[in-house]
Amino acid sequence: MERRVAFFPPDHSPPKKHSGGKPRRGGVNRVDEIRREIAKEIAPGASDGGESALADASGAAGVDRHFVDEAIDLAWLAAGKTQPNPLVGAVVVKNGEVLGAGYHPRYGEDHAETVALERAGDAARGSTLYVTLEPCAHHGNTPPCVGQIIASGVSRVVVPTLDPDTRVNGRGIRTLRERGIRADVGAGAERALLLNLPYFKSKLGLGPAVTLKMAVTLDGKIASMPGRRDDITGEGSRRIAQRLRAIHEGVLVGIETVITDEPRLDCRLLDGVKAPSPVVIDPDLRFPAAHPWLADRRVFVVTVPHAPEDKAAVLADSGARVVRCDAKDRRIDPAAVVEALRRDGVTSLLVEGGARVFSSFVTNGAWDAMFVFVSPVLFGPEGVDLADRALERAGLAAVFAGASRAGDDAVLCYINRKTRDALVSRLC
Ligand SMILES: NC(=O)c1ccc[n+]([C@@H]2O[C@H](COP(=O)([O-])OP(=O)(O)OC[C@H]3O[C@@H](n4cnc5c(N)ncnc54)[C@H](OP(=O)(O)O)[C@@H]3O)[C@@H](O)[C@H]2O)c1
Ligand SMILES: [Zn+2]
Repeated sequence: MERRVAFFPPDHSPPKKHSGGKPRRGGVNRVDEIRREIAKEIAPGASDGGESALADASGAAGVDRHFVDEAIDLAWLAAGKTQPNPLVGAVVVKNGEVLGAGYHPRYGEDHAETVALERAGDAARGSTLYVTLEPCAHHGNTPPCVGQIIASGVSRVVVPTLDPDTRVNGRGIRTLRERGIRADVGAGAERALLLNLPYFKSKLGLGPAVTLKMAVTLDGKIASMPGRRDDITGEGSRRIAQRLRAIHEGVLVGIETVITDEPRLDCRLLDGVKAPSPVVIDPDLRFPAAHPWLADRRVFVVTVPHAPEDKAAVLADSGARVVRCDAKDRRIDPAAVVEALRRDGVTSLLVEGGARVFSSFVTNGAWDAMFVFVSPVLFGPEGVDLADRALERAGLAAVFAGASRAGDDAVLCYINRKTRDALVSRLC
């Protein structure tokens, strides 16, 4: 099946008063509208993501992946709003037609299955329900979704993974099967793992989730020359990057990037989402004690064991948390950084560069997911390379998880093979 997978929806934020919740009576079905936009983005020429989008699907597995991907796209709309709950999207489909779609909009509000099934109404009888996570089987803020699925008359449920939450973990699927509903697990698993990586890793006790995010030109450069700040990607990519920030508790950069780019590292394009805590790798403690982040964010400055005491004291006085980590020849061990942050309550980390920081995390295998934004420009030989030293292909151990587009940019997504295997063996 030749199609681009939209990991992230296009530039839509759900409307404030109707953020993915119940349909307005007589009003426009906003989620269907969004779904149609997503269909246009991923399947050019498709009428509305229905039959024609599926015409070249390679059999039933391709169809399942298609609709799981649609549900994943919807789920991303709530990035940063559902913690500690996962991001979940759902699509109700019969004869290739989408009858209802929805997502869990915010912690404490309706689950995705409820929204999608309510939209489908009686037409849900005999349909297939695609959900990005195993439906819940317990009473939380809302009644268990499996009860509503059974009552709706849905005849098949497709999920990419089980829910590691011990109150659900397999019970949702078992209950559906006991009631004669066919339930299949595994379609689109890698993409679904990227959607909720911090949630999966923490529930399974597998340590903090570490995601790498880099923007590169077509010739693999991350800046047009050393010391120059460049906008490489477009607004669509920035919105996606901010969704990534929204699902992580910390966002890490090297001191050179702080000084050169003066990045804000916030989520300003998203509505009502808290920005993660900035973490700066800074062996010589050059981080400015008057940096604006210190006014209202928890800032971590990570340095080497022998960094000057007086500078550390000035930074600590201005509100920064100075963390000393083991280092070999000034090289701080990324795994030690992740562990130190975990002890301070930061259990998921987005690493945004620059080149030396990125290389350090990749060569040490200290990453779970990687999002590379590629823009169609060339910076030429003067440009700064993505990686500051040759990265051996074998050392990367990356499994391609899909690609999407954001305006003129391509977004390439990878999951670390070890992370993938550890999660798939427990959840699929
Ligand atoms: N396109 C993008 O996505 C993107 C993102 C961020 C930044 N950038 C660009 O990248 C450039 C900056 O990259 P850069 O490589 O010069 O700097 P950097 O990675 O931002 O920071 C380098 C600093 O961090 C230290 N450092 C990095 N890893 C370390 C480790 N494991 N242990 C100890 N110290 C470590 C370095 O120490 P040493 O001095 O000992 O090496 C150096 O002081 C800028 O031009 C910026 O615009 C691009
Ligand atoms: Zn539920």
